Amino acid sequence: MGVWGPVEGWRNTTRIVRQEIRDGHRSVLSDPRQFAQTQDMEPIMQDFSAVRQRDEELYDLLVAERERQRDGIELIPSENYVSPAILEAMGSVLTNKYSEGYPGKRYYGGQEYIDKIENLARRRAKALFGAEHVNVQCYSGSPANTAVMFGLLDYGDTIMGMKLDQGGHLTHGLHVNYSGKSYNVVSYGVRKETGRIDMDEVRGLALEHRPKLIISGATAYPRQFDFEAFKSIADEVGAVPMADISHISGLIVGGVHPSPLPFTDVVTTTTHKTLRGPRSAIIMCHKKYAKDIDRAVFPGLQGGPHDHITAAKALTFKEAMQPEFKDYAGQIVANAKALAEALLEHGFDLVSGGTDNHLVLVDLTNKGIIGKDAETALDKAGLTANKNTVPFDTRSPFSPSGIRIGTPAATTRGMKEPEMKRIADWINAAIDNHGNDEKLSSIHDEVRELCAGFPVPGISTTEHNR
Ligand SMILES: Cc1ncc(COP(=O)(O)O)c(C=O)c1O
Repeated sequence: MGVWGPVEGWRNTTRIVRQEIRDGHRSVLSDPRQFAQTQDMEPIMQDFSAVRQRDEELYDLLVAERERQRDGIELIPSENYVSPAILEAMGSVLTNKYSEGYPGKRYYGGQEYIDKIENLARRRAKALFGAEHVNVQCYSGSPANTAVMFGLLDYGDTIMGMKLDQGGHLTHGLHVNYSGKSYNVVSYGVRKETGRIDMDEVRGLALEHRPKLIISGATAYPRQFDFEAFKSIADEVGAVPMADISHISGLIVGGVHPSPLPFTDVVTTTTHKTLRGPRSAIIMCHKKYAKDIDRAVFPGLQGGPHDHITAAKALTFKEAMQPEFKDYAGQIVANAKALAEALLEHGFDLVSGGTDNHLVLVDLTNKGIIGKDAETALDKAGLTANKNTVPFDTRSPFSPSGIRIGTPAATTRGMKEPEMKRIADWINAAIDNHGNDEKLSSIHDEVRELCAGFPVPGISTTEHNR
């Protein structure tokens, strides 16, 4: 199978990592032809046997979660399945090491290999995204965004980001977040009639409030970002343009969403969403901001980097450089469009009428169900999605009117358009029968049957709960 995602892909990576080790860390991965030839290794399966010997209680919980992931379809747009090789790197002996500082300038000894691993991750991230400078030490997306603000702004400065209840992230200026508490926040949103960002409104707000930082990027926006327009507005008002591409970085490197690099001065991304790496983040920036941002990450906000995660990030960037990753990214979007179309046929009201990326945002008002109840019904049917506000929601963020549904994880399992159509049918049936546990359970049986044909990387299809 050509698409990077199903089991062949994981076999490749596992084999390659082992070969790299045998070759004394010479990089076979730098030659995509060799990468494509390595097809014969079984993926590593998570059997938790060592945990079982030490801690039965935890073992039972790990097994239960493993089976939940195997027997249901993951539709939360910010989740994905990493390769067994990435799992292996994350679970490696690198977790034993402390390495405060940066390569060549550490506060602890024994950094011979850690420096090389961090430099490898930096080099690959720069090549993958076309970045001038990268910091690969950020623990996760929220600290990465915080570090940018901490490094480049003074308390009380004005920042501009997308409203949380219209698709933005809480670190883009929500009043209860560090960003909202420390800075003066101006927020832009979407146009009510179109569900799309109105760049005239963004420009008008920027001209009126003269922010020091303008953030583009979102957590629940189904359309593409016009990063060039954001850059030109930032230039016009003398702001630093920052793009948070956490959700779409896999689509960007896969060539199915325009990139904000190299023209956007600061770009942050998590590595665990469409990029399909470990739970973490990186910051990329123009050289002139490198020192301030590095200092903000360490010693400003963090202590020792998580070296096992840095190693997994290095591998993630390598995986994303493979030609198959482009197929994967393209299929994520094709699947989201197929899912959107099928949901529209069932009479669902989609914010902006559809999608250009990996997610759809469904306003359930016309279906007479709230997001929370839909989420619960879908859970019972083996379909994991999350309740979400929709633009101009009349309900609260704790009990919003919508749900957010995404395709990155299902696409990793190898699911395509025909499976998206079945998923839409199940979503429709689950919502129509949300009070009927028997029906929801019978949908889950059908979901489980489909899942058996689409293995989750690293999870055996045959092992069962004790
Ligand atoms: C756009 C965006 N930025 C930042 C984050 C924060 O990432 P993390 O949960 O790793 O802190 C998220 C997480 O959902 C996100 O969607």
